[in-house]
Amino acid sequence: MDIRIAPSILSADFCNLERDLKAISAADLVHVDLMDHHFVPNLTIGEPVVERICQVTDLPVDVHMMLEDADRWAPEYAKLGASSVSFHMGATQAPVRLARQLRDMGCQACFAVRPAEPVEPIFDILDEFDMILIMTVEPGFGGQKFLDNQMAKVRRLRDEISRRGAKTRIQVDGGVSSSTAAIVASSGADTLVAGSAVYGTLDRTQAIVDIRDKAQA
Ligand code: DX5
Ligand code: ZN
Repeated sequence: MDIRIAPSILSADFCNLERDLKAISAADLVHVDLMDHHFVPNLTIGEPVVERICQVTDLPVDVHMMLEDADRWAPEYAKLGASSVSFHMGATQAPVRLARQLRDMGCQACFAVRPAEPVEPIFDILDEFDMILIMTVEPGFGGQKFLDNQMAKVRRLRDEISRRGAKTRIQVDGGVSSSTAAIVASSGADTLVAGSAVYGTLDRTQAIVDIRDKAQA
């Protein structure tokens, strides 16, 4: 499957968001982290800013909701123009119903799994989702160390997707850089989120190219 790079604007300059969005035109998606001070101990942005991001960028907007009450909020972001919305296993009462609602709105549905959560409960509902997001840090902050102990989970998921002939993508988020991209991709992920590895360098295009090259090697 083709490798996609999704820079996370969590590590961008929120006072220069338009500039920092234009700087990642070499990417495939822009990853937008929503945090609510409840589901995770950090707070980022909400509807008004996401609406402007969707208007300003040419990239598909991949919204990662680290919010309580996903059932209430995910459809709002689909309505604003997100191309995909990820919601967490621990934040929805009815993942299948929510995924179907998002898809009916023309938005891709993605289920997010934290490091201590198993992926096996999703196996029988895989075809309800366009993508499964495997967290390789505890959600909440950029710049954390990559948890390589999550790669076995990615491999089990990739094997199951292949076994079922499903089209579900696998996204990995947290600590992805040119140093970890190869193991992430060889474990079976096809969509790589990178925040500090892209925005922590001056040449964002080069950072995106480096991660893609390592992932495709
Ligand atoms: C963390 C967020 C990530 C974060 C990744 O909770 O979901 O998307 O921006 O940042 P890095 O790539 O720096 O680990
Ligand atoms: Zn994220």
